[in-house]
Amino acid sequence: MYKVIRNTKYDYVGQSYSSSYPNLHKYPATMLPQIGIGILKELNISAGSMLDPYCGSGSSFSSGLECGIKKMYGCDINPLAVLLSKVKFTKISIEKLLEARKIFRDNLYDFIKNEQNIESLPRPQITNIDFWFSREVADNLTVIKYFIDKIKDNDIRNFFLLPFSETVRECSYTRNNEFKLFRMKSEELLNFNPDVLGVYFKKFNNTFTYYKYFYLPKLEDDILVEVKYSKFDLHDRNFDVVLTSPPYGDSRTTVAYGQFSALSNEWLGIDYARKIDGMLLGGQKLKENIKNGVIADSIYQIGSVDTKRALEVSAFYNDLGSSIKKVAGSIRKGGKAIYVVGNRTVKNVQLPTDQFIAEKFEENGFKHLITYERALSNKSMPRKNSPTNEKGKTVNTMLSEYIIVCEKISMLKN
Ligand SMILES: C[S@@+](CC[C@H](N)C(=O)[O-])C[C@H]1O[C@@H](n2cnc3c(N)ncnc32)[C@H](O)[C@@H]1O
Repeated sequence: MYKVIRNTKYDYVGQSYSSSYPNLHKYPATMLPQIGIGILKELNISAGSMLDPYCGSGSSFSSGLECGIKKMYGCDINPLAVLLSKVKFTKISIEKLLEARKIFRDNLYDFIKNEQNIESLPRPQITNIDFWFSREVADNLTVIKYFIDKIKDNDIRNFFLLPFSETVRECSYTRNNEFKLFRMKSEELLNFNPDVLGVYFKKFNNTFTYYKYFYLPKLEDDILVEVKYSKFDLHDRNFDVVLTSPPYGDSRTTVAYGQFSALSNEWLGIDYARKIDGMLLGGQKLKENIKNGVIADSIYQIGSVDTKRALEVSAFYNDLGSSIKKVAGSIRKGGKAIYVVGNRTVKNVQLPTDQFIAEKFEENGFKHLITYERALSNKSMPRKNSPTNEKGKTVNTMLSEYIIVCEKISMLKN
């Protein structure tokens, strides 16, 4: 019988994400690394290889590092997430970074002395560029990007791109405290005149300091963190553990990862930047509702009031189920799958995502070991959402999060 245990140890009240692994860049719905550390320790996992198929900003890698795991693999469809995870966990020489910064700065300031130089640069391909950026901001961002692109070393170039992405967001007309893309009010626009280069170098220096003092000292030579832009596909490797926090619903009605990252991704040169939300779990339409398993009843209830929403919810669980099948096939016998997830409410029906995850792993050769419920007090995500998807109607949802642990007991053919 599926059972959930309320475990206050995992509440981490008053603790923040950044106590030992500061954020180098804002990202939505990050997982508190302390959760991963707590559960890996409880399960006595302190070596081997780890996978995070939805790695986002890389919190699971922080947890793994803290527990002695040295080989970690991740993927995410959002290029901004991949960049963020890569920068945090790639070892770069501080001397080389400082040298690159000096050359970058000298060349950039020399270049902007002549206005014609700026005008000679091609305008970047950004959707509705004049709606989101003043001409002056766009010009300054173009110059920064031009000099970042000249950096030959990939790792150093990525490092420079991270504060650039934050600068894009901060100097755009977006409302910075929102995850979705909303433009500032017109009265705010009038007084908005950011010093783009100043913002960039300040962000660069912050990134540099956090990296130098919090990340780099933990990146010993034998540590490997490999991150890719892609959906997870069956891996030829048999991972010892999977630690992940998947999305808890489709991106359109829950956390809009693609929208949050759209401007940054476009400036980073990603041509599918505006299509990312449609590529994430639940992004594609389904023609039939899920009729079996623990989720079927909830979908039926949603369908009785809104057939379209029921199909959207089915699409999300269909994708999550297929992904779990692939993840399950990539874990060795005896290995563990740890998922941290919230149960969202749609049309007043709370969806048992935790139980769905346990069920899918059990269908794929696993035994469900534990589900802990923790109080959600510190996740960076909207505390209210619109379960009815009607404008203005919001409710407080997601007051808890669930930590689901399953163990592989048999090798099924995938
Ligand atoms: C809850 S967030 C992960 C947060 C992460 N644990 C952290 O702390 O930053 C879920 C992530 O899943 C990614 N995602 C959604 N659908 C995906 C898919 N089909 N394949 C790979 N990544 C996906 C999103 O881009 C997002 O970064």
